[in-house]
Amino acid sequence: MSNAFVARSLDEIRFWSRIMKEHSLFLKLGFRCDDTQLIQEANQFYRVFEEIEAKAQAFTVQTDPETIKRFNIEVHTSITYIWAFKRRVLGLILQCQLPGANNFPLLVDHTSREAYYFRNRLEELNAGRLEPLPDAIIDENVFFLRIMADHAKFIGHLLDPSERSLVEQARNFSHDFDQLLYQAVDLSSMRPQSQTQPLLDQFLDQNRVSVKSLRDFKKTASELIDACRIKSIIHPLLADHVFREAERFLEIIDMFEASLTGKPAI
Ligand SMILES: [Fe+2]
Ligand SMILES: [Fe+2]
Repeated sequence: MSNAFVARSLDEIRFWSRIMKEHSLFLKLGFRCDDTQLIQEANQFYRVFEEIEAKAQAFTVQTDPETIKRFNIEVHTSITYIWAFKRRVLGLILQCQLPGANNFPLLVDHTSREAYYFRNRLEELNAGRLEPLPDAIIDENVFFLRIMADHAKFIGHLLDPSERSLVEQARNFSHDFDQLLYQAVDLSSMRPQSQTQPLLDQFLDQNRVSVKSLRDFKKTASELIDACRIKSIIHPLLADHVFREAERFLEIIDMFEASLTGKPAI
């Protein structure tokens, strides 16, 4: 347990607690106005993660690692609850119990996968067992490429159908990321033989190029939505949210690249 543990934990919690808070808002907005119980639950999760976010901001790298370890456990519990909530909502949608609500099943599943990822990160940090680099590179990319592919699909479906050129661009991103995801899955099944430095390096380079271009597309979409220049039912915060997740993926790719090539991590 060290400063690195504290810094890493706080970084994960600061990023992902805001994400969890926003998921609660998006889910709430997608419920029907009569689903007051679900809306109330979503509001509660919003407050829980808002509080966690504030606590994480108040701690510093100087905070006692033992305090952070306990904080991680507390956050872990809250993530378990929001994960269960998302899965329950998914079940209701798939059993047609919420006709006319506006949360896509894939979006609810997607947000639950992000919760699961967040919870797993905290488990790994507290147990002090991080994956070996070659495994982490493949697993993180498989996770994030699917997240990026989903984002492209959400954007494509939430833009107004009359925004033909943007819908087309979103569809192309969806296709590109599905391809990248399959390549990552192939690289994964060829483990450990596929875990050579040149292959992993090329894998990161290729993914970085596509994530940058999707990130820029999200940025543009976000600005257009903010300026009310395009027709869509995308909440401005959702556009920014998926942009931040792409930025996060890019940071992770750069960190892996630095570790792989022996340069100090950025
Ligand atoms: Fe998200
Ligand atoms: Fe996401």
